[in-house]
Amino acid sequence: MFSPTVHTRFIALLGNPLGHSISPPMHNRVFEKLGMDYCYLPIEVTAEDLGTIFAAMKKMNFAGCNVTIPHKLAIMAHLDELDHLAETIGAVNTVRFQNGRSKGFNTDGEGFIRSLQEESGITPKGHRFLLFGCGGATRAIAMTLAAHGAERVMLCNRTEAKAEALAEEINRRVRPCAASIACKGKAQLTAAGEADILVNTTSIGMHPNEDIMPFPEACIEARHIVADIVYNPWMTKLLSTAEERGAKAVHGLGMLVWQGAAAFKIFTGREADVAAMKEEVAKLRKG
Ligand code: ATR
Repeated sequence: MFSPTVHTRFIALLGNPLGHSISPPMHNRVFEKLGMDYCYLPIEVTAEDLGTIFAAMKKMNFAGCNVTIPHKLAIMAHLDELDHLAETIGAVNTVRFQNGRSKGFNTDGEGFIRSLQEESGITPKGHRFLLFGCGGATRAIAMTLAAHGAERVMLCNRTEAKAEALAEEINRRVRPCAASIACKGKAQLTAAGEADILVNTTSIGMHPNEDIMPFPEACIEARHIVADIVYNPWMTKLLSTAEERGAKAVHGLGMLVWQGAAAFKIFTGREADVAAMKEEVAKLRKG
């Protein structure tokens, strides 16, 4: 059994609730495999206690923390430094403690890009993306795609005003490559026709509402890459439909692994054992 000592470095996951989070087993598996004296532990924190617990962690033997719902925005008020991309995204999922200072990062968008590259060989540069949704995950992915040279980032959301606001912000703060698209009818089909990669960044298709599609099947062509950030079930209705139509499917679990691998590098300065992370995450695969 693992037994921490005074030399053990800790990494926390701060969020609420954390019930079935995969991050602790995913990171601990790599620490064990690489023989590193680190321990990753989930800590459920209320909004009220976030500042107190974070300040205490800074004075203890913590190398950093991941931050998840509902604290990704609130944590920013407690940081000494903010990475430029995390500042643009406006949310932090990873914090490093170094020399008594804390610095915040956001690895969600990088996780998506690394997963896309691994599964399809595609990098953002010179490619056209159509993103469905406009929540926190969309923000991180869209801003990171723009920062990595995507030719176009088209945003299609049920509440169109949100897509318009995000497109304007990307154009102003990152690069002029974004546009909002009406979320119905011909405009959606035309945008899909102009895109190389279609991405679902909404929760549509997630268990227990597995039979719903985030956009009409007619949008999908055989030349498309279709990515989903939903990972439960592993094979969403969107991805199985994409495969039936001859398109390449990119699964949501890859983003989960690669955002963790990027955070691991920030915490420890070492490359994660991504194969070990994938083995752990594969236990989540249902359907
Ligand atoms: P997160 O921040 O975790 O990424 P979120 O803020 O809950 O997620 O955002 C979910 C996104 O999915 C939103 O853009 C939402 O659309 P609205 O902005 O119109 O609310 C979209 N979404 C969720 N359920 C949807 C549904 N049934 N149909 C269409 N869009 C949906």
